[in-house]
Amino acid sequence: MREKAASGRGNQGQISKTLRALVIHGPNLNLLGEREPEVYGRTTLRDIDRELKRLGKELGLAVDTFQSNSEGAIVDRIQKARGRADIILINPGAYTHTSIAIRDAFAAIAVPVIEVHLSNVYKREPFRHHSTIADLAVGRIMGFGAESYYLALRAAANLLVKQT
Ligand code: DQA
Repeated sequence: MREKAASGRGNQGQISKTLRALVIHGPNLNLLGEREPEVYGRTTLRDIDRELKRLGKELGLAVDTFQSNSEGAIVDRIQKARGRADIILINPGAYTHTSIAIRDAFAAIAVPVIEVHLSNVYKREPFRHHSTIADLAVGRIMGFGAESYYLALRAAANLLVKQT
């Protein structure tokens, strides 16, 4: 069910537009909590999504979350966000390192993107050092486990407030 968006009044008393953040999780992130916990931690995706929605309310953002193991489904979700999301946070998982289709989808829509990773990819294998979206992203947050997502959501809220 689509969550009812938070809206309110800005500093000058006008009714402010609802700010919407979309969080996309790529392949294998549905297994968080069980998958290589020494690398990715023990927090499940469900817990992360729940905390993102809670934190979103605190920050005045309506947060939608989406996970897929399929590149095409992620591209479809990015396209669907055009004109609907004010910002996208994405952890593209292994597609970070390979997907030109996901890069092209971000290049096609005028929605700012923040790249998120649980692990610090630069401490890992060299094939994880390249990201196809790094130069399109407003910023990248990595290495803090589940906290990377929460830091990214705070950064998103700060950015959107500056723009309004
Ligand atoms: C990851 C890092 C990627 O290299 C890896 O393929 C993932 C998770 C991270 O969050 O640290 O699936 O994006």
